[in-house]
Amino acid sequence: MDSKKIRQDFPVLLSSNAIYFDSACTSLKPRAVIEAEARYYNELSACAGRSAHTLAKKTGECFEAAREKVAKFVGAKPEEVAFTKNTTEALNLVVRSLNYASRRKIVTTPLEHHSLLLPIMEQERRGIAKMEMLGVSADGSIEESALQAIDKSTALVAVHHTTNTTGMHAPLEKIMKAAHDAGALVLVDGAQGVPHSRVDFRKLGADFLAFSGHKMCGPTGIGCLVGRKEAFEKLDTFIVGGETVETVSLQGVKWKEAPKRFEAGIQNYSGALGLSAACDYLGKIGMQNVEEHEKRMAEKLISTIQSVPGATIYGNADAKKRCALVSFNLKGVSAHQVALMCDNLSKIALRSGVFCAEPAANQLGFGKGAARASIYIYNTEEEIKVFGEALQKIAKLG
Ligand code: ALA
Repeated sequence: MDSKKIRQDFPVLLSSNAIYFDSACTSLKPRAVIEAEARYYNELSACAGRSAHTLAKKTGECFEAAREKVAKFVGAKPEEVAFTKNTTEALNLVVRSLNYASRRKIVTTPLEHHSLLLPIMEQERRGIAKMEMLGVSADGSIEESALQAIDKSTALVAVHHTTNTTGMHAPLEKIMKAAHDAGALVLVDGAQGVPHSRVDFRKLGADFLAFSGHKMCGPTGIGCLVGRKEAFEKLDTFIVGGETVETVSLQGVKWKEAPKRFEAGIQNYSGALGLSAACDYLGKIGMQNVEEHEKRMAEKLISTIQSVPGATIYGNADAKKRCALVSFNLKGVSAHQVALMCDNLSKIALRSGVFCAEPAANQLGFGKGAARASIYIYNTEEEIKVFGEALQKIAKLG
């Protein structure tokens, strides 16, 4: 995989000259994705599934072709893919629509992003479900002994594939077994997983998988909830409206089957076309190559940060346990200062703060914030070298 060649596909890298280390927040978009989005507005611009004219039919065909492409990318069937606005909406959809009458418990971890934790906490606040946490050890891994918390009263186990605070992966195989042995469903937050490794829905064995387009070179405003047919059938309605129904009378409604039942209103057609182009783009590079690039870059990134006096890295510093994402602090300099100075010194884009995962930040020991470097396909070893030089200068201020 040639990152220098890949960079040429990203107009913003060519125009800004930035060292973009903020892909866990949102990735950059290649020309092919931007053009696919524009193609909807230039050539289609109609809505799907409603009108019978040619442009509407073409829009419908392109929308369904996009669904097929995205499904194939994650090893799912098209009817298992519901388009959503983003991961947040997909996670809310499952957590808020599942029935907790006979099984009250949702098991999760303190490492989750707010987009998973908050809907669970809301279900608890409303007296609908009860939240229980799996234990996490000092290095940020889920304690496997804690899996006994998953029992016959568990309706749902909701957990990350890869965290956005340490880049570490959850022991999904073991979680899946414990959950399914207990008869619980598993919802995987794949926001930081699907863009960085080959995630195959069948092999994963999850009941639901959520991810966003914008973290995998796709557009903002489009994401997916992938679900097994029987799992989708366990969900009540969520947002309802046009195209979610077969028939409506004032006496009652016949709902469509999933995924349409969950796609209310006019959809983000340009986003779906863009996401499909992103799947093509990443597919051509090969997710195995993406993964290998990230492991190499994770190693470099970790050793570069470790060589800076006064640096602390959060989570297990073994590159094999992470994607290319590192949260860190420098002694005596605030995380925001580190990020601002990286930008000012060398146009390096970092994120700083608690990364919309405040309980995770507290658990990992950076409740007051950390700086985070997250790397993707267009980043090079030379950029990590420049980053290291900037950090060495900043560390002298501490
Ligand atoms: N979840 C995104 C991040 O980690 C926004 O930055």
